[in-house]
Amino acid sequence: MTHAPFPETIPETIRSARPAATAALMAETGLDEPRLRRLVHRFYDRVRADPMLGPVFAARIADWGPHLAKMEAFWSSVALMTGRYHGKPVERHADLPVDWAHFERWLALFRETAAETCPPEGAALVIERAERIARSLHMAVQDARQGPAGIPVLR
Ligand code: HEM
Repeated sequence: MTHAPFPETIPETIRSARPAATAALMAETGLDEPRLRRLVHRFYDRVRADPMLGPVFAARIADWGPHLAKMEAFWSSVALMTGRYHGKPVERHADLPVDWAHFERWLALFRETAAETCPPEGAALVIERAERIARSLHMAVQDARQGPAGIPVLR
């Protein structure tokens, strides 16, 4: 039996794994898919032009179309609980040549872009999520560098 929970005729904005939660988040934050798309595109325009971050991305991403689409889905999932993103962010960052200064720069550009493209409640939400995820990705990068030998034996 074919089953299509989201027919193509339903606009992207209301496709969601948890429609009630998504509707509530949209009402509380003023965020929606077009706004998140603008945030993502403007943010990566800045990242690509940035002397510190630009080269790190250029070394890994040749075709920006799929990366931007993935990041739109990621922010839709994180901010609006739509469940659109399925991926492995920790693995993708584990071997990047970055330290906390790169994450600080990433966050500075993200805060600026969020403030420009989102209403205050929406900017506060995405910035808070970005800060948390940046901390956990930074830990993942450090752990990957240490390898299993770096794990202390707890007694
Ligand atoms: C030092 C800061 C960062 C750098 C240099 C960086 C760089 C990258 C690069 C190069 C990729 C593409 C990896 C690949 O496909 O080979 C990527 C993917 C991604 N990044 Fe980051 N990133 C940073 C911080 C962050 C933060 C703070 C977040 C979330 C708030 C984030 C979320 C993601 C996600 C969701 C992907 C897609 C992973 C997948 O393929 O599913 N990144 N990043």
